[in-house]
Amino acid sequence: MCGIIGYIGDRKACDVIVSGLKRLEYRGYDSVGVVTENGGELYIRKGAGKIGELEKKLGLSELPGNRGIGHTRWATHGIPDDTNAHPHTDCTGEIALVHNGIIENYLELREELLEKGHLFRSDTDTEVIAHLIEEELKTAGDFEEALRNALNRLKGSFALGIIYSRDVEHLYFVRHESPLVLGIGEGEMFAASDVPAFLPYTNRAVFIDDGEYVILSKEGYTVKDFRTGAVREKEVHTINWSLEMAEKQGYPHFMLKEIHEEPKAVKEAIYGNIEFMDRIAEEIAEYDKIFIVAMGTSYHAGIVGKYLFQRLARKVPIVEEASEFRYEAEGVIDKNTLVIAITQSGETADTLAAIRLAKKRGAKTLSIVNVVGSMATRISDLVIYTHAGPEIGVAATKTYTTQLTVLTMLAIALARHLKTVDGDYLNTLEEDLHKLPELIEEVLGYEDELKALAEELEEKKDFFYIGRGISVATALEGALKLKEISYIHAEGLSAGELKHGPLALIEDGVPVVAVAPSGKTFDKIVSNIEEAKARKGFIISLGDNDELRKISDVFLRMPEVDELLSPVVYVVPLQLLAYHLAVLRGNDPDKPRNLAKSVTVE
Ligand code: F6R
Repeated sequence: MCGIIGYIGDRKACDVIVSGLKRLEYRGYDSVGVVTENGGELYIRKGAGKIGELEKKLGLSELPGNRGIGHTRWATHGIPDDTNAHPHTDCTGEIALVHNGIIENYLELREELLEKGHLFRSDTDTEVIAHLIEEELKTAGDFEEALRNALNRLKGSFALGIIYSRDVEHLYFVRHESPLVLGIGEGEMFAASDVPAFLPYTNRAVFIDDGEYVILSKEGYTVKDFRTGAVREKEVHTINWSLEMAEKQGYPHFMLKEIHEEPKAVKEAIYGNIEFMDRIAEEIAEYDKIFIVAMGTSYHAGIVGKYLFQRLARKVPIVEEASEFRYEAEGVIDKNTLVIAITQSGETADTLAAIRLAKKRGAKTLSIVNVVGSMATRISDLVIYTHAGPEIGVAATKTYTTQLTVLTMLAIALARHLKTVDGDYLNTLEEDLHKLPELIEEVLGYEDELKALAEELEEKKDFFYIGRGISVATALEGALKLKEISYIHAEGLSAGELKHGPLALIEDGVPVVAVAPSGKTFDKIVSNIEEAKARKGFIISLGDNDELRKISDVFLRMPEVDELLSPVVYVVPLQLLAYHLAVLRGNDPDKPRNLAKSVTVE
């Protein structure tokens, strides 16, 4: 997730762009860049760091001209440094562009363009687009045709802002699976990833749809379909949001916005890793002594990872909290050990210490990380990015489902490599993996029901979340979400454990949330639910088998999904339930008391 802002009009473009970038910073903040045009010449300044630090240092507010584009980056391909910061240019330096999204086929395109003699300066997927347009310009009738030809060769997600020094009347913008909105002024026009970027100047907006590009001039805009070239009529909306509401795209909290971003985030996690997973699997296939280390929500992803590795790759990783591993594991790690660290921030002190210990003992380290360029990525041998985009809410939501997504991809790739399970089953699982964004979308539709349920449960003091097999992790994560933002006591546990102690706490009306997808242990969890019901527990069950309806006070009918993929879908209603309970109880879910987004101390 990155932020784009473009301006064309009579104002000093860099002023509009710099102020817009400040308002887009929540979308990404590891590097910044601005390009303006004056007298047919492009002026580019860019660098790693935050806009506040770089504005003066790079002289961003001194750039001449009345049209230009800015970018605030959240790195996906290539570490956050000066060279990888956007804008990127073609070989001639006449085309400069900024990008938000991931180009899935960039390696293939880069190879082709290198062969044709193009010189690349960065490690980004974005740079290929500039060279591709340059290449298409050699045969196309004009810039617009070259742009369209290039766009039709791209796979993945992209919102683009493009400036061509030979066309001083226009700016070009594109949207495909990454957001883009136009701001309509009087004799001036804006384009941005999000409304807050231009809200101080205009509240009239046109939302661009997937597969469309925009030719922007001072006086107006033309929107066309980039597959057919046909002009599209667009509706102008009046935005009544405050600036703060607009940053959250109308959602009252970042957490809710981030939950609603999960379909997209999971898609990006798939797109962003599809090309690399086999190579990573090959590199780790020989290891049999495997530890998965992480904290909090990432630790729960590790538990899901354990089940996936067992069932698919026939490997049995030990999942350990990094805070324990770092003090206990020294004697058992050696060069034959693989340590997989899972960390959204890449900066959690205990997880970093665990990686360092593993390295010191000669083990191979693989980190699954969201923040590109974070410490974990710098000290690990191998890195898989989750591509969830920045997560502002303290409670992990979209970063969890993307961690699960990449762990599933890794386990499938390992199983293929090791031929541990039937290839047809892996194909089906892979097909189903691509359907996850749709399934998440479907369960997001339960929000009203979950909100009503939260109202019913608002006064409850203790919650129990139960699951079996891979769903134990979902139970633990559901309980953690509730604790951390609603401040209600909650326990997550394996349903089989219930009658070994915790059942003593179940009495009239105590909520028991059962995570019960169809699968190996479905009948077992049904018995466990009965046990809780017999003690008058208030049963809320999530599953795809209607039998659950009979034994539950509340039944949430979940879409059918392979048990191994179910954690990605089943956790979403639990995130929503926790969110609505927190709000009802007057808490700020984005900033829970006593907690920080990144725990950089032991
Ligand atoms: C809970 C949560 C935390 C983090 C934990 C690890 O919602 O966000 O439990 O999961 O602090 O953080 P990372 O993944 O950054 O290492």
